[in-house]
Amino acid sequence: MAATDTGGVDWAALEAAAVTAMGKAYAPYSKFPVGAAALTEDGRIVSGCNVENASYGLTLCAECALVGDLHMGGGGRLRAFYCVDAKGNILMPCGRCRQLLYEFRAPGMQLMTTQGIKTMDQVLPDAFGPDNLEENR
Ligand code: THU
Repeated sequence: MAATDTGGVDWAALEAAAVTAMGKAYAPYSKFPVGAAALTEDGRIVSGCNVENASYGLTLCAECALVGDLHMGGGGRLRAFYCVDAKGNILMPCGRCRQLLYEFRAPGMQLMTTQGIKTMDQVLPDAFGPDNLEENR
């Protein structure tokens, strides 16, 4: 599948779930609420918001809550991902969160980006992942 194919994903539903999640953000320090949503391989929508902390460096990005939601709901793999800021604009996941998402990617996982749909491999090329750990065992 080309990265620009919508892949049968209901992107509008993911956007709506991300906006709903953003509305639950706890971001009193940055005042930058973020919401993220993803479609799992078995058709669930999982989501998360950022949760900040008075010890600023302990802030949890929205994607942290999303992968927690993934596991609390039964686990699985992520097919498609959407992240928004307070205005509902598409937000690129930060570097750490790309790594978090990489761990649970389904083959060909897609992300809505500021430049359209891209694959996980495009936004985190040459990634380090679970397979690398197997190589040296
Ligand atoms: N943030 C996320 O939740 N996800 C990202 O991928 C980028 C940054 C949050 C962390 C912090 O609460 C706020 O955005 C400002 O950096």
